[in-house]
Amino acid sequence: MNKIALGVTSSISIYKAADIIRLFQKEDLAVQVIMTERATNFIQPEFFTALSGQPAVVRLFDQKQRPIEHITLASEVSLLVIAPATANIIAKLASGLADDFLSTFYLAVKSPVLIAPAMNEAMFLHPQTQANIKKLKDLGVVFVEPESGYLACGQKGSGRLASPEKIVQLGLRLIRQQPVFKDKLIVVTAGPTREALDPVRFLSNRSSGKMGYELAREAYERGAEVVLISGPVELRPPAGVKVERVISSEDMRQAVLKYYDQASVVIMSAAVSDFRFSQAGREKIKKENLPSAVRLEKTPDILEELGRLKRGQLLVGFAAETSEAKARAREKMEKKKLDLIVVNDVSQQDIGFESDDNEVWLLWPDGRERLISKTTKRKVSQEILTEIGAMFNGRKGNN
Ligand code: C5P
Repeated sequence: MNKIALGVTSSISIYKAADIIRLFQKEDLAVQVIMTERATNFIQPEFFTALSGQPAVVRLFDQKQRPIEHITLASEVSLLVIAPATANIIAKLASGLADDFLSTFYLAVKSPVLIAPAMNEAMFLHPQTQANIKKLKDLGVVFVEPESGYLACGQKGSGRLASPEKIVQLGLRLIRQQPVFKDKLIVVTAGPTREALDPVRFLSNRSSGKMGYELAREAYERGAEVVLISGPVELRPPAGVKVERVISSEDMRQAVLKYYDQASVVIMSAAVSDFRFSQAGREKIKKENLPSAVRLEKTPDILEELGRLKRGQLLVGFAAETSEAKARAREKMEKKKLDLIVVNDVSQQDIGFESDDNEVWLLWPDGRERLISKTTKRKVSQEILTEIGAMFNGRKGNN
């Protein structure tokens, strides 16, 4: 089903529902808006009708609707999101009241339900509201915790609607999660590392981190717990993912090792610098003291170490090559005991580094290989996660 229902209630943050609609639409999901009567005091239904392309629903048994619209619509949606949700709607749902379209629809719908509360802090923290939330959680309703910050009442505190990105990301996870990823920790590394020469200069590379960030987002949507270990990049991390920021290859090594025991999968998509300066100065090197040569040494090979320490984890490596890509990648897969290697040919300008697109070969230890023809890094990450899911189901690997 490609349709979701979005319930909007009378919170000042109602305007953020526009972004929520847009973000779901970007994922090819149609949005049916359901408003409470009081929400129409803030915004006319026509606004949401125009944005969503479907008449916004307010009342039960409206002449313009199908005869029993709340039941018909309930069988058509894969998710009900209520954002923003007031204390009033939460209380009504917790006690099973059904006196308008939204509360009646909640009882009729069999899909997952996601609620994003928005209200004054005292109202949110009131034991009655908290008891209502607990009751709904016990019934399987998922909540997006409100954030702290300035509230419409002028006070600072908790109760501000979570960001549209966070709400939509969690919504997508509820629709797209797959049993094979449940309770699995997937560690993804992304971006470049920086190896210091002195406090202001470093050795690095052209990695943008886009591939790793897409992989982390995709793994989260499929229901995994995700830790994203990221070198310095300009990207916004996907909502719902735990982010560990690192600078050098040694920082990255330590961060990966910290999670390795609990991890089911490690995807090393980071472009870890292969070299570092043998001696990094604490003071900035002055122009007059320009060294005529600098000494380099190899950085620790994180993947190789993970291969040696492996106890059932699936290890996925990346290889960026400019010639004999597949043969060299196979050597790496063997040396580092990988279960899958993703090969980029970085001699091509329009794919790979810094680009939004990629074309990769996937190679497995049993000789199997598969080309993912040029497409977006988003699509490439979906294909890689599908293959990882299949590997778990079949438990094929290099263990
Ligand atoms: O040998 P090469 O550096 O080409 O291998 C690439 C793969 O190894 C990537 O998955 C990269 O994240 C990982 N790597 C690593 N530690 C390094 C260098 C690369 O884990 N020092």
